[in-house]
Amino acid sequence: MNSGHLPSQSSPPNSETPLEKTLGIIKPEAVTAGHVEAILDLIQQHGLKIEKKRKLSLTRELAAAFYEIHQQKPFFNDLVSYMTSGEIIVLIISGANAVAKYRALMGSTDPLQAEPGTIRKIFGESIERNAVHGSDSTENASREIAFFFKDV
Ligand code: RTP
Ligand code: MG
Repeated sequence: MNSGHLPSQSSPPNSETPLEKTLGIIKPEAVTAGHVEAILDLIQQHGLKIEKKRKLSLTRELAAAFYEIHQQKPFFNDLVSYMTSGEIIVLIISGANAVAKYRALMGSTDPLQAEPGTIRKIFGESIERNAVHGSDSTENASREIAFFFKDV
């Protein structure tokens, strides 16, 4: 598999490198298509650890609350419908620089713009059906982990 364009495949952590946790979601179409194991393998091959994993279905209320930042966006209703269209896998992913590292591994929101070797390039179907979610900051990672994992 070509992932040569991605930065820092597994640079060893040192005292300067923050150990972080981030929230990942494998979205409905990727679960239905049977891509879960391949996506988990790719994450681990890039030096990140899967700390926790839950399979669940979102209600419209929960999906709207999770994506509340996008409430005013034209794609909000479609996004809520999509995220409630099937089961999802939510993940706590940990490692050095996990937030930025996992975002880089996901690739651009639009799979057509995503770099070779990224999850969205390999598994994404469209700008909406783009296979995975990842927290975009350490603050949002804490909020999103608490959203799905009450005991962490
Ligand atoms: P995510 O939050 O899921 O990790 O994705 P992201 O940061 O790359 O993108 P964001 O702007 O936060 O958008 C959230 C999700 O909404 C869907 N979307 N659809 N139809 C559209 O133009 C459109 N734009 C975004 C995608 O599923 C995107 O991941
Ligand atoms: Mg986002």
